Amino acid sequence: MGDEKGANTAYIERSSSYDGKRASSGKYKTFFRKNWWKLLIGFLAAKLIIILCLVYVGFPNIAQDQVNKSSLEVKSITLTNPTQNSVHIQQDVVLHSSSIFTPTLDGFKASLFLENTEPDIEPFAYLSLPQVHSSKATPININQTMKIIDLDQFSQFNTLIMNSETVRVAFRGHTALHLGGLPSTQVQYNEVLELKGLNNLAGFDIPTFHLVNNKDGGPNMIGKAYIPNTSLMTLEMVRDACNFQPTLKPD
Ligand SMILES: *[C@@H]1O[C@H](CO)[C@@H](O)[C@H](O)[C@H]1NC(C)=O
Ligand SMILES: *[C@@H]1O[C@H](CO)[C@@H](O)[C@H](O)[C@H]1NC(C)=O
Ligand SMILES: *[C@@H]1O[C@H](CO)[C@@H](O)[C@H](O)[C@H]1NC(C)=O
Repeated sequence: MGDEKGANTAYIERSSSYDGKRASSGKYKTFFRKNWWKLLIGFLAAKLIIILCLVYVGFPNIAQDQVNKSSLEVKSITLTNPTQNSVHIQQDVVLHSSSIFTPTLDGFKASLFLENTEPDIEPFAYLSLPQVHSSKATPININQTMKIIDLDQFSQFNTLIMNSETVRVAFRGHTALHLGGLPSTQVQYNEVLELKGLNNLAGFDIPTFHLVNNKDGGPNMIGKAYIPNTSLMTLEMVRDACNFQPTLKPD
């Protein structure tokens, strides 16, 4: 037993002192043994930089990209109770996203404006959007009284609704996006909704009517009216609210 140990020791000594290559690998080993902690710190620092880049540069970009790619589908819009400086809006929209992630977007205030005021947009109102946990198709219900902050722009919007086949209304805002344990990131929300307008009530027709003599204050004209229903919009028209006066052009 004692002899075998001695032989092994002798072999190792010989091999390390006579073999040049092994000597240099021994130097590396020594260097590594003395400096392993520096290498480890360097490696961890590199890894940390990559992770931080992904989280603070990559993730916000990916998040913004996904928000850019999402779209809104308007199911219905109902504008009621118009006054000179407010209108009640009830809106059903669906947020479509093709993302594999299901982030949460904080509620935020979006400016509603007409695109022809870009780049210095002149919002006619702000819409408060609720918090949304996004999935492939997320229904969003909006039911609020919207303050009109620019009557001139709002009148232009209403004129477009009355007179056009389609109306584009832009909305813009920014909010925080949360995904799992990642730090939340700010995203810009820019979207243009294309709404069907009333197009001067094209197709509006009164095929038959006759006057009746009604002294009790009831109706004195009875007839049929055909009102086309192409718009998803429901508008309350009030005589004295100038914003909602339909302007019917004679053909
Ligand atoms: C998102 O869209 C805006 C324009 O609306 C653009 O400026 C921006 O570069 C887009 N961001 C990404 C990450 O795609
Ligand atoms: C909308 O809000 C009003 C109160 O502001 C409420 O009376 C009404 O029931 C709500 N409608 C829907 C569909 O949630
Ligand atoms: C008008 O169309 C909308 C959606 O297309 C529908 O929900 C509504 O019931 C229609 N109204 C009438 C009076 O047909």
